[in-house]
Amino acid sequence: MNKTAKLDIDGHIYELPLIEGTEGEKALDVGRLRAQSGYITLDPAFANTGACQSAISFIDGELGTLRYRGIDIAELCEKSTFMEVSYLLIYGHLPGEEEYTRFKEKVHHHSLIHEDMKSFFTSYPGHAHPMAILSAMVCSLSVYHPELLQPEQSDEDRDQTITHLLSKVRVLAAFAYKRSVGEAFVYTRPELDYLSNFMHMMFTTPMRPFEPDEVIRKALDVLFILHADHEQNCSTSTVRMVGSSKANLFAALSAGICALWGPLHGGANQAVIEMLESIHASGSGTKRYVDMAKDKGNHFKLMGFGHRVYKKYDPRAAIIKKYCDQVLNHLGIDNPILEIAKELEEAALTDDYFIERQLYPNVDFYSGIIYRALKIPTNMFTVMFALGRLPGWIAHWKELVEDPGMKIARPRQIYTGSREQQYLPIDER
Ligand code: CMC
Repeated sequence: MNKTAKLDIDGHIYELPLIEGTEGEKALDVGRLRAQSGYITLDPAFANTGACQSAISFIDGELGTLRYRGIDIAELCEKSTFMEVSYLLIYGHLPGEEEYTRFKEKVHHHSLIHEDMKSFFTSYPGHAHPMAILSAMVCSLSVYHPELLQPEQSDEDRDQTITHLLSKVRVLAAFAYKRSVGEAFVYTRPELDYLSNFMHMMFTTPMRPFEPDEVIRKALDVLFILHADHEQNCSTSTVRMVGSSKANLFAALSAGICALWGPLHGGANQAVIEMLESIHASGSGTKRYVDMAKDKGNHFKLMGFGHRVYKKYDPRAAIIKKYCDQVLNHLGIDNPILEIAKELEEAALTDDYFIERQLYPNVDFYSGIIYRALKIPTNMFTVMFALGRLPGWIAHWKELVEDPGMKIARPRQIYTGSREQQYLPIDER
């Protein structure tokens, strides 16, 4: 028998169905509450609201666990690759050899963008933020693929749309970078894998070809795997929200990129490095910044700290911290910023303010130090996050549009404005 909970409002009893997920997560289904009682639930910022049922990733914020399709991210980082994880997230299972080869071939095959698009990049001022360019370009890409924009797609068309975007977004990101440094655009090479091709498009010049380096490729692969999905975060919820109106995947991803840009979300990786550099430049030590973050009269927050879901150390941050040391050692870089980050972490983790609020380093705290070591400019850090999150956004869009019960997302509100009043002509106001 289906379980229910009873809600008593002024002596009227309403029965709410109870839902339980495969990991024991519990929910009250309030979908019919307003129709039955006239009440809605109010939950600003969705702190306690599930927007959907999803089988893609699972987080236990109390234990610090993150799994994609049931597999722990630490295991995926050790044994898999970003391409394979992309397949896993999007199609729900690890690919067999043939499926994987076909998938990689399709992604590689779609790595050209229409030549006309190159002129779009040159129309932006040199200082334009690459997140603005990326979002605009992903949406613009749709005009070259009218055949992929139908709200009702066959499985084959949906696959085409997905592989086009998986491949081309990284090309657009690399072109945005090339534009910002005033260098010629570079095309993919068939013998390189997905991420090496991205690095090649970023860093090859006519004078110096990009040289693959296994330690760096692995570190980048791990960073991208760790960013690949994170259930109903702000940008993924945005992708689902836009997708729910049956807007196409290009539009939904473009909106997701904009949502990611904010400093409370993916933009935090840029904000962290800027914060660490200003601590370094000030020479005043980490204590002053910890004190500023605790001061309620001050808007300053310790960037890269805290998370809506994790009440333990973010498992992604722990893995990235390890790779930070590895990459810096490999490249022979002695970066004082890494020491400042570790000192800041130590100071915060032993401070009552952070302990009481369960604030730990998140995925953005150490990632920028690796990007910096790879010579990726600071304003490209959030673009790197976007490239990593791409398969997750796509997987959620696919899950949404393939759900026969999909409806347009449309929250309600509690109105707090004026009661009904008459219009006053301007000369009587
Ligand atoms: N520094 C100082 N105090 C903080 C911080 C921080 N980084 N984060 C949260 N707090 C305090 C907050 O002021 C509040 O204190 P009080 O209870 O006294 O009012 C308490 O901790 C709870 O915080 P909250 O703002 O209610 O938590 P939230 O779930 O709404 O926000 C967050 C989560 C990630 C937006 C927030 O922790 C934050 O702004 N962190 C800094 C930005 C950041 O690193 N963002 C990346 C998030 S992880 C990757 C991603 O999602 O993209």
